[in-house]
Amino acid sequence: MSEVQRFVYGRRRGHKLRQGRLQRLEELLPCLELSLPETPDAPVQPLGLFPPGTREVWLEIGFGAGEHLIAQAKAHPEIGFIGCEPFINGVASLVQHAGEEDLGNIRVYRDDARLLLHRLAPASIGRMFILYPDPWPKTRHHKRRIVGPSTLDRFAAVLADGAELRLATDHADYARWMLRSLTSHRAFRWLAKGTADWRDRPVDWPATRYEAKALRAGRKPFYFRFERVARPASGAGNGADWP
Ligand SMILES: C[S@@+](CC[C@H](N)C(=O)[O-])C[C@H]1O[C@@H](n2cnc3c(N)ncnc32)[C@H](O)[C@@H]1O
Repeated sequence: MSEVQRFVYGRRRGHKLRQGRLQRLEELLPCLELSLPETPDAPVQPLGLFPPGTREVWLEIGFGAGEHLIAQAKAHPEIGFIGCEPFINGVASLVQHAGEEDLGNIRVYRDDARLLLHRLAPASIGRMFILYPDPWPKTRHHKRRIVGPSTLDRFAAVLADGAELRLATDHADYARWMLRSLTSHRAFRWLAKGTADWRDRPVDWPATRYEAKALRAGRKPFYFRFERVARPASGAGNGADWP
């Protein structure tokens, strides 16, 4: 497997953590943390991280303070959730809420999502969320965007056939970029049938802190749902090079 570089461009640490929150983090993180094995020999099978009976695993990249992930984990106790977030204050917030709600179906990866994406087993994720990723508006920074040519093949590789990829942004240029990138990728199909499908947040899609901030500032979000198209059956045509 080729070496993947770590790229975390935003802040990894904000204000100093309050003593109580720091203590909760130190107590609970060891039970929730997903650490990648040192040797990249075998792919990580995410179902194995959760109790027996877990139906599938969903992944949220850049969960911020974690309110969407917590709400989804409460609504779907039969699903295992991996949250990926390098910002330690966000991790502390998620861990505190997971502890208060006694949620056993959350695991946290606190580093660059790309490192995890390169280690997850193929077709092992049943749904993926990337909500309000940093838009990196300057053209010279577009290559930092987490949704882009360098990551779509990995998303396609780890998502199971028929899995959903949910994206949100309040940045019109990033919304166009997302649509262009995904609609031209053969592994993805946009699920929208009409304007309301990308203008209105679906009911099973809890709001995030960043979304509230965008709405207060008068920015209207875009909500995109894509399906991971089924891989061609083995031996059928030229499907061998599919991610
Ligand atoms: C604008 S915030 C949105 C947070 C949250 N999703 C929300 O809607 O409130 C973007 C988040 O992505 C995280 N992030 C940035 N680069 C990342 C990376 N390489 N892997 C995982 N998360 C990342 C940031 O730390 C930040 O919390």
